[in-house]
Amino acid sequence: MTNTKYWPADDESSSGLKEAAAALAAGGVVAFPTETVYGLGADARNTDAVRRIFEAKGRPSDNPLIVHVASEEALDSLAEQVNDLERKLIRAFWPGPLTLVLPAKTVAVSPLVTAGLDTVAVRMPSHETARRLIELSGCPLAAPSANRSGRPSPTAAAHVMEDLDGRIDGVLDGGPTGVGLESTVVRVLDGVIHILRPGGVTAEQLQAAAGPEARVETGGESAAEGAPEAQTAEQPRSPGVKYTHYAPEGEMLLITADNDDALIQAVRETARQARDAGRKVGIIAAGEHAGRYEGAADEILVCGSRQAPETAAQQLYATLRECDRLGLDFIVAEGFPERGIGAALMNRMRKAAGGRVRSVPQP
Ligand code: TXA
Ligand code: MG
Repeated sequence: MTNTKYWPADDESSSGLKEAAAALAAGGVVAFPTETVYGLGADARNTDAVRRIFEAKGRPSDNPLIVHVASEEALDSLAEQVNDLERKLIRAFWPGPLTLVLPAKTVAVSPLVTAGLDTVAVRMPSHETARRLIELSGCPLAAPSANRSGRPSPTAAAHVMEDLDGRIDGVLDGGPTGVGLESTVVRVLDGVIHILRPGGVTAEQLQAAAGPEARVETGGESAAEGAPEAQTAEQPRSPGVKYTHYAPEGEMLLITADNDDALIQAVRETARQARDAGRKVGIIAAGEHAGRYEGAADEILVCGSRQAPETAAQQLYATLRECDRLGLDFIVAEGFPERGIGAALMNRMRKAAGGRVRSVPQP
């Protein structure tokens, strides 16, 4: 057991930030806020420090980590080359929730970070505290989400403590995160932007920034899930996408429908049947629909709004954690439209449901 320190990020003297940076420079593992989710950071060049990330999370060693930088110079010390289209994306979205997978410079980071691949994933967070922490520590920070492997990612310092208290050196508390879902991971090959993991930057935004000559390919992940063999040039993939993720302890079923009334009816019926079978049932619903589920489940959990899907993205992980706190053993969740951030939201909801998805046919 390690004594996990807790530092508020916004104290007058920045003493928390300084202590956290010093701990990282000394080879420690520290959780910190980003605009997406909390990350669990360590000096990417220090193999012993990076090993502690994997141990604290219980993360499989074949799942590589994203390296966080605070400048483009730091990027150039990690990546062998960055092409014009990649530079364009960097100019459009950095700092921000976009991760680029690039050919790695040899020995720039510990081989544990890249899990032995010849590529390295890099991003520059837009969260002020994250950038200051990287600068003050003087390290490129390898940082996965700061949750135990398989659990929902942390969007508040309290979630980090729930999962990792006693296993890491400290948590820098910067309040709730903004986006609420992880960064978009892309690989650019032959003028095609492959989305390996949907996230905070949408496919539509990537296409708009890249221009009409570039193609955005969103199929990278589903192809990867069926094909666990090595990454190929034709179909780049992200090793992490094959693992179970974000799952609440109870069984979750995701229901989708094109029509709101059909959706509500299917969710109500499914919840009621499970309840009749003696299960403790929760419904995850958008605010607009919550009132229509009264009496259909033991708990109704509101997750954002259908009018503003970014609010559902912000709240999803906390809502999944709430399901565990309430001891729910069956969770019926409403699907959201897959436009914009809805694509990343539904990607995470499908994973949380362990692939249990029912789509209601058009009436
Ligand atoms: O928003 C985020 O990206 C957060 C915050 C903390 O920055 N980090 C995060 O890290 O989500 P993690 O470790 O939970 O997810 C990293 C993803 C995994 O799916 C991993 O397989 C993929 O990035 N990845 C990392 N390096 C890669 C590489 N060289 N090639 C392909 N995929 C890579
Ligand atoms: Mg993660």
